[in-house]
Amino acid sequence: MALRNEWPVIAIDGPSASGKGTVAERVAAALGFHFLDSGALYRLATLAALRQGLDLSDTTALAAAARDMDVAFRDGRTSLDGEDVTEALRTEAVSAATSRVAASPAVREALLARQRRFRQAPGLVADGRDMGSTVFPDALLKVFLTADVAVRAGRRHKQLMEKGMCAKMSDVVEELTQRDARDSNRPVAPLRHYPDAIFLDTTALSVDQAVERVLSWYRERAP
Ligand code: DC
Repeated sequence: MALRNEWPVIAIDGPSASGKGTVAERVAAALGFHFLDSGALYRLATLAALRQGLDLSDTTALAAAARDMDVAFRDGRTSLDGEDVTEALRTEAVSAATSRVAASPAVREALLARQRRFRQAPGLVADGRDMGSTVFPDALLKVFLTADVAVRAGRRHKQLMEKGMCAKMSDVVEELTQRDARDSNRPVAPLRHYPDAIFLDTTALSVDQAVERVLSWYRERAP
């Protein structure tokens, strides 16, 4: 039996609200590939820990919660231990706590094998911060997708308003800037443009244009 899994992976990494989730999902749909939203796994581990009343500085307990949680992704919905938590995962409180939990090496280690299990036929598009650098270092294509903080804040603000959640633009900019700083400065798997990823700045691109760029880079490399 081959030790390595040869199914192609497209790794799409980048900061919050860069649009990488939408682009990654669209690329996966176009190719008929599986899709891994690794941020959702970090959010699920955080929600599991919060619901168990864990101390967020107890990294051993956090890692156990991340390892033991029962999660399912189906028809655009996400469940945790049998309960639909799709909306609960996206609250600002969970976002802020997740960024702390994701800084724990023990939690990152606990989620590694779970993430790698998403690599199945005929291929995978993986969205996160360290997909190309740590989780799938042999990915066929690695993209670091970003946009100006003002553009990202505008996109996040629009999303929040669409969900009926009131938010001040200045607060959204502040929250994104803080989260970027936390995700970039942590010692383990920091958010960073690693050398073998192609840099894709979507500040002036539509979603369609960004998807087309990624697909064309993939076609150039596909076996
Ligand atoms: O992509 P997102 O906003 O759903 O990610 C939620 C948090 O998880 C964010 O603080 C970054 C972190 N994260 C991470 O550290 N590594 C990943 N591969 C994905 C997300």
